[in-house]
Amino acid sequence: PKIIFQEADGTRIEVEAPVGKTIMEAARDSNVPGIDADCGGALACATCHCYFSDDQIGMLPAKSASEEDMINFANAEVKDGSRLSCQISITQDMDGWVVQVPDTQ
Ligand code: FES
Repeated sequence: PKIIFQEADGTRIEVEAPVGKTIMEAARDSNVPGIDADCGGALACATCHCYFSDDQIGMLPAKSASEEDMINFANAEVKDGSRLSCQISITQDMDGWVVQVPDTQ
């Protein structure tokens, strides 16, 4: 599938997002600006924070307690659609998703 990352300034970057990788890995592998992922997916940094739409959130597995804890360390505003993208595995039905990148990490 392809996932489109929308930067805070509105720029859209479409990346190849292999099933089984995480959304953070797809962004990192394509050098998407604004997804820092400092801890490499270990749920220890909150710099892979992204915003998802209500529809997308409805299709995702719920946050683990540790993701819930760590997301509170995000530098950008935490909203209803906030998730840590290293905790979200890519599935085929995500093709065409637009994922919002926060203005800071
Ligand atoms: Fe560090 Fe996701 S990459 S919490």
